[in-house]
Amino acid sequence: MEQTYVDCLAYFGVGGAHPGGLQLTKKILSKEAIDKTKFILDAGCGTGQTAAYIAKHYGCQVTSLDYNELMVEKAMQRFQRLNLPIKVIQGRTEHLPFENASFDIVLSESVIAFTNIFLTIAEFKRVLHQNGLLIAVEMVQEKSLSKDELEEITRFYGVPRLLREHEWHNVFRHAGFKQIHVELCDLQFDENDVNNVPDFSISEKMNDTLFEILKEHQRLTKKYKEKLGYRIFRCFV
Ligand SMILES: C[S@@+](CC[C@H](N)C(=O)[O-])C[C@H]1O[C@@H](n2cnc3c(N)ncnc32)[C@H](O)[C@@H]1O
Repeated sequence: MEQTYVDCLAYFGVGGAHPGGLQLTKKILSKEAIDKTKFILDAGCGTGQTAAYIAKHYGCQVTSLDYNELMVEKAMQRFQRLNLPIKVIQGRTEHLPFENASFDIVLSESVIAFTNIFLTIAEFKRVLHQNGLLIAVEMVQEKSLSKDELEEITRFYGVPRLLREHEWHNVFRHAGFKQIHVELCDLQFDENDVNNVPDFSISEKMNDTLFEILKEHQRLTKKYKEKLGYRIFRCFV
């Protein structure tokens, strides 16, 4: 089977595979009222860097979910190594295996764009409490893209569509979220801070295709740096 961008992230075991990485995550979470009593879902958790940080730092009930088997395996290994009581589930955001109103916060960092966004956002809304909050870090189209450009990005990343900020806003609103706050991602971080060292858990079996995918990702990031951006959406039920 052909390897995808997400497979590449999984094989390299990239922790914090979203713009701004763990530093941005910490900044976002520091603005929320999180304590031990909260139930938090890290949806599309990847290798579990964020879930581990939340469980360790806030001591609350964390559940993490991802559909990629290797990501789930690496997340489990991380939680075991750190002795963290985090539930790990292999599943899809479009069909969450949770009861209605199970969580106070759903956090989804660079995930929704890879999924059926309508089903995923409806599911996030369903599993949130009455006063729940969805925090999503998502890719946005900043400037018009030609048909070929759009095709190049969506095919490489395996994302069904590339929304503009107002389109994301409309989808969240349509799913029933009442208030939607949007922030720009501040991607500046201090390279000398030991907390910012990259987090990888590289698989033993790597192949050339995975390195080519990584190289192509770097090429596209450079090519589209003016046309693609990211936003933090804070959506209140
Ligand atoms: C760019 S990575 C981000 C991972 C993680 N949130 C982080 O910031 O490190 C996207 C993640 O979404 C997961 N994903 C993509 N589509 C999914 C789906 N439909 N259901 C669950 N997880 C999905 C991928 O397996 C991958 O781990």
